[in-house]
Amino acid sequence: MSDRFRNVMTVAEPSIYAVACDLLGEDPNAPEAPRRPPVAQALARCPRGSVAAARGAGGEDVAVVVVEDGTAYVVPDACPHDGGPLSDGFVDAGRLVCARHGLEFEPDTGRCVSRSRLCLRAAPRRIVDRDP
Ligand code: FES
Repeated sequence: MSDRFRNVMTVAEPSIYAVACDLLGEDPNAPEAPRRPPVAQALARCPRGSVAAARGAGGEDVAVVVVEDGTAYVVPDACPHDGGPLSDGFVDAGRLVCARHGLEFEPDTGRCVSRSRLCLRAAPRRIVDRDP
């Protein structure tokens, strides 16, 4: 069920919303799914030196990282340290910093510069077709 439909129905007529959920086999009390745009949309809204949450081509949660020189990468959106969302982090001096405990990662290699035994759970993918 789309979030727009859910919002309209829960405000306009809660009982109809409950019936619609019943018909669709959905839990009316389920939390809203987090909204993650596709990578291209996230990238379009991601200025240099920032990070954004996105949905990968396979439906996986990813983080789009744009370093200060404009180079963009797609990385898994789970920190290898404790699973924190890397999309909540930030970019500092070309490094992706996890907001949860502050570990720093090289977005081009996935290597953790704070703890040498850690690296991102999948190799970063550089986005080469980024518009200027
Ligand atoms: S979860 Fe990222 S640094 Fe701990």
